[in-house]
Amino acid sequence: MHINKLNTISIFKLIWDSLSKKRKSYVYLTILFTLFNGLAEIISLGLVVPFLAALSNPDDFFYNPTINTISGVFGINTPVKLALSLSILFALASLLSGSIKLITLWLNYRVSALIGKDISSQCFAKTIRQPYSKQITKNTSKILSAITNEITSTVVVINQILLFINASISIFGVLLIIILVDWKIAFSVGFLISLFYSLIMLLTKSRLKINSKLVTLTTEKQVKLIQESFGSIRDLILNNYQNIFIDKFDNNEEILRIKRADNLFLSTFPRFSMEAFSLIVMAFVSYGIILDKGEINSSVPLLGAIALGAQRLLPSIQLLFSAWANIKGYKSSLYKVGRLLNQTINEFPINNLVKRRFNKYIQVKSVDFNYFPNEGNILHQINISIKKGEKVGLIGETGSGKSTLIDLIMGLLSPTKGQIIVDEIDIYNKNKYEDLISWRNNIAHVPQSIYLSDTTIKENIAFGESIEKIDMNKLIDATKLCQIHEFIYDLPLKYNTVVGERGVRLSGGQIQRIGIARAIYKKADVLILDEATSALDSKTEEILMNGIYNLDTSPTLIMIAHSIKTLINCDSIYELKNGKIIRKFSGLEIDNIKQ
Ligand SMILES: Nc1ncnc2c1ncn2[C@@H]1O[C@H](COP(=O)(O)OP(=O)(O)OP(=O)(O)O)[C@@H](O)[C@H]1O
Ligand SMILES: [Mg+2]
Repeated sequence: MHINKLNTISIFKLIWDSLSKKRKSYVYLTILFTLFNGLAEIISLGLVVPFLAALSNPDDFFYNPTINTISGVFGINTPVKLALSLSILFALASLLSGSIKLITLWLNYRVSALIGKDISSQCFAKTIRQPYSKQITKNTSKILSAITNEITSTVVVINQILLFINASISIFGVLLIIILVDWKIAFSVGFLISLFYSLIMLLTKSRLKINSKLVTLTTEKQVKLIQESFGSIRDLILNNYQNIFIDKFDNNEEILRIKRADNLFLSTFPRFSMEAFSLIVMAFVSYGIILDKGEINSSVPLLGAIALGAQRLLPSIQLLFSAWANIKGYKSSLYKVGRLLNQTINEFPINNLVKRRFNKYIQVKSVDFNYFPNEGNILHQINISIKKGEKVGLIGETGSGKSTLIDLIMGLLSPTKGQIIVDEIDIYNKNKYEDLISWRNNIAHVPQSIYLSDTTIKENIAFGESIEKIDMNKLIDATKLCQIHEFIYDLPLKYNTVVGERGVRLSGGQIQRIGIARAIYKKADVLILDEATSALDSKTEEILMNGIYNLDTSPTLIMIAHSIKTLINCDSIYELKNGKIIRKFSGLEIDNIKQ
């Protein structure tokens, strides 16, 4: 489901729709327990009146005709026995009500946590399944803070909603009893309390909202700041900029902590004023009752019921208010999560993909491309044809569109105009998504900047494969070809050496060679190298390139390089300038360059 304009209700609907059947049944169970809880509340409170009446005036109570008949049925024949039985009954009811409360509370937390887990995974999945063209416009700090912080806040909101339902039912039960006992008191107390809280809600609403916005915004800023400071730590140290970053961090942290604390305060503070307020009301009400009845003894049951009712009512009302305040206070987080959940998935998973090998040719046909429609074309009328097994080079000045062109060929970015045909199939045919997936599967790519994970060399090369499944012979063949096997073999932990975050423990050339080894290990039909040897010395580059040209799998090769020398063993070389192919070198011309 996709919603055009999000509001709080539609976000809850999105969350609800994203829950599995099982999860929904947990929610129903929680609500069922909440109802039991309300019922237990009514029963335990309803028992107070007879219980106190029996204690304060045992004889009168025992000889009341109805009570006497009922007692008779249970074989209770003295006022003392009746008081004892009622005490036991009251204790049992309280115990039961307490247990139900406990279970309901546990269910509330557990169910909201599970819902949180579900939506968190969904947000991650929906974000990661967005097409590449969307991914490159995304801001990672925003996603990071949304998937970590905002989800946590959303779990708080969900929990608060369940507590809200719980509190409403309890309040309803307690009010019902008080109304039955004395409707005038019930209504006047109810009115006063509602007035009190409505006033506070009115006063705190906008502050909660502003704080909520500030908190989410600053969280994003903070994540960004941390990412950027460690991403450019060299420059930070060189320029002695640490203090600037520390100050910014400190400022953000101040806003974050203070605004969070403000919202917490706003959600709890009425409790204390309410306690004082209710004591005053209680004093007057008690006085009124005693005045009305003329003496204390017969007022005890009523007073007790109201006191106990108030003791039950107040926390529930406070809960209701703080739930409201929390929902308001986390609204921005809720919206961020809502936006992530509201993403449509274009890149859906395909389970039984029929793998199709690459057999004949790749044809780039009159392709135009732009990243943003209003910014003009990056590629103009590109026509290239690549036969299976052919070795094609791409050169051109920086920014001419080489990397973009291979992103199009690889099935990551769809052409604005024109087609990319692989073995007679238009890979971007919208109705045949599996063709695109199957084509991507045939490609191994070494990007311009290689991202190594902070794991072992072995796992980095066999990227995505589980450690037991790694074929070490195949892996060593790849590293030998990439001129990196000896280096790895000399390390104390050899292939189990951990490379550090982004491969910090390796040199630029070592990272590149591991990147190429990863592509070769994949044994794909098409091998694409985007300036993959730029960090290597010319001797190492030559040996490595010869290895690639002579691979026994003879993959189709597309190579980008800045120097035509790197490409002289290619069958054809295209030169790009400002997004256009301005020249094609083929056999003889390349031979001429060689000499
Ligand atoms: N994600 C993007 N969003 C918007 N514009 C982009 C994006 N990536 C690249 N460009 C633009 O597209 C043009 C071509 O970029 P591309 O990376 O394809 O060049 P290149 O030939 O690979 O350059 P280099 O040799 O420096 O790697 C550039 O002008 C660049 O500004
Ligand atoms: Mg490039």
